[in-house]
Amino acid sequence: MSTRAINGGLGAIMVIAIVLSFAAARDFSRPNLEFLPDMVHGPTYHAFEPNPHTPDGKTLRPPAPGSIPRGQMPFRYERTEQDALRAGSELTNPIPADDDAAQLRGSVAFAVFCQPCHGASGAGDGMVAKRGFPPPPSLLIEHAVNMKDGQLFHIVTLGQANMPGHAAQVSRTDRWKIINYIRSMQAAASKRPAGAEAT
Ligand code: HEC
Repeated sequence: MSTRAINGGLGAIMVIAIVLSFAAARDFSRPNLEFLPDMVHGPTYHAFEPNPHTPDGKTLRPPAPGSIPRGQMPFRYERTEQDALRAGSELTNPIPADDDAAQLRGSVAFAVFCQPCHGASGAGDGMVAKRGFPPPPSLLIEHAVNMKDGQLFHIVTLGQANMPGHAAQVSRTDRWKIINYIRSMQAAASKRPAGAEAT
């Protein structure tokens, strides 16, 4: 076969290829042919779409009445003495007294948030109290020892008289851990068995 014939043939193939590629061109902004789409397009409603199947016509459902968002357990008590007593009878400490890691965390949180006023040992001789803030009563004496854990939790959460509430700066679990730590300080001070809550 002559070179001329081969070039002629290759030229023809090139022309055919170019013509075919134009002929097969399609709009790439549109989906291609879907072969057996199966479950690609589910009959779901998107969150903000109107929905004929729900009573209020919205797809997004409101939370059921009484739902509590995770980590936002409500605290239904007022900053009153009666409510502190009520918290004492209704709330129980979810942290076991013999949880060493919790004790450690309680001691750290106590040192950060309570020690400035209550003192390192809880005796009420913190630096802030020494510099003019009304000194708190000792946490190691009868009055605090006889309070129930829930009552202490109420005081730490909402405050009492001159003591501000600590709900904003100390997490709920840390507050319970601090209470366990206070119990162990009280136990050490009075040689009561650790974790024995006065009733
Ligand atoms: C700004 C200073 C201050 C800080 C910080 C503080 N307290 Fe107090 N606390 C007080 C004062 C003052 C009182 C006394 C309130 C009163 O007159 O009833 C008190 C009272 C208490 C009582 C009641 C004691 C009793 O016998 O009536 C408890 C329990 C207590 N605090 C725990 C804590 C814990 C736990 C923390 C840390 C999370 C803390 N407090 C942080 C100042 C403080």
